[in-house]
Amino acid sequence: GKAYRIAVIPGDGTGPEVVREGLKALDAVAAVKGFKVEKVHYDLGGERYLKTGDILPQGVLDELRTFDAILLGAIGHPDVKPGILEKGLLLELRFQLDQYINLRPVILYPGVETPLKDKRPEDIDFVVVRENTEGLYAGSGGFLRKGTPHEVAIQESINTRVGVERCIRFAFDFCRRRNAGKKLTLCGKTNVLTYAFDLWQRVFNEVAGEYPDIGTDYAHVDATCMWMVKNPEWFDVIVTDNMFGDIITDLGAMIQGGMGIAAGGNINPSGVSMFEPIGGSAPKYTGQNVINPLAAVAAVQMMLDHLEERPAAALIEKAIKKVVARDIKSLSAGRMGRSTSEVGDLVAEYIAGA
Ligand code: IPM
Ligand code: MN
Repeated sequence: GKAYRIAVIPGDGTGPEVVREGLKALDAVAAVKGFKVEKVHYDLGGERYLKTGDILPQGVLDELRTFDAILLGAIGHPDVKPGILEKGLLLELRFQLDQYINLRPVILYPGVETPLKDKRPEDIDFVVVRENTEGLYAGSGGFLRKGTPHEVAIQESINTRVGVERCIRFAFDFCRRRNAGKKLTLCGKTNVLTYAFDLWQRVFNEVAGEYPDIGTDYAHVDATCMWMVKNPEWFDVIVTDNMFGDIITDLGAMIQGGMGIAAGGNINPSGVSMFEPIGGSAPKYTGQNVINPLAAVAAVQMMLDHLEERPAAALIEKAIKKVVARDIKSLSAGRMGRSTSEVGDLVAEYIAGA
């Protein structure tokens, strides 16, 4: 059988607790499907930074480049000033590894409660393709007259032709591979951000010509939020910039039942990709064994899908569906009616019994 080398970055807060359960699922599915997984752990995160001052040493980054994939828990520590670890570690990994796509599925599984009245699993099943290396996240800008009453803070959105085009092409290709409605919606703000989204719109229209089998649509980001709540069944694949993608995927996580199940993939189609639960480090729950590990399990599922271990990924999804339908009362931390490790054990059990 095949063998994969996976770098594991459990990270901060509850990251290690959920990653442990994700790895249980990975080991279980590897045993059933007959492939091998070599895991190497990296202690990057808030604790290491506070102890040593290291955020992402060059040597570690060089090692990370050699893996088949990376599994990340969460980054963010209450004793570290906001921005240091987020920008220095999470965004730095995305940028340095050129993971230019952030792929975030929004799926309501049967048995999961959504805050959307009258919406059912068949109504909530779409994927957000978020640009992951540019836009407002590029870090361009600065202060004028800092500290004075006339201070100006400038934060610029960088949109390159190359960056926008590779993201849009990925979205069209992804939409074609996906067995669904085959419609790609560009989410932007062409009525106000008339430089950035003029470029996005032009590239989108141009590339669309090469995909006559895929329907296209456009929605402003504010309207996208409204429709995600009112008519989520309208969406199949949404492509958008970094900032809008960040915002609408938290909304997406809520309509799919909560952060407890939301996962994402930071994809470099020709490099090393990184998979993560998107809920954050949730420091107040650290060590309590109450956080939902299913988002980390779903991250492992996405990782296997990316490694083209499709039957293994499908098996994990089946186990997730079984657990949410039968074993837990809610997806939310502390309200599952089960502990973190019990949920992970059930997933592994269902995989092994399949
Ligand atoms: C996410 C997170 C990050 C982001 C933060 C932690 C930098 O919110 O993965 O969505 O904004 O991309
Ligand atoms: Mn976010």
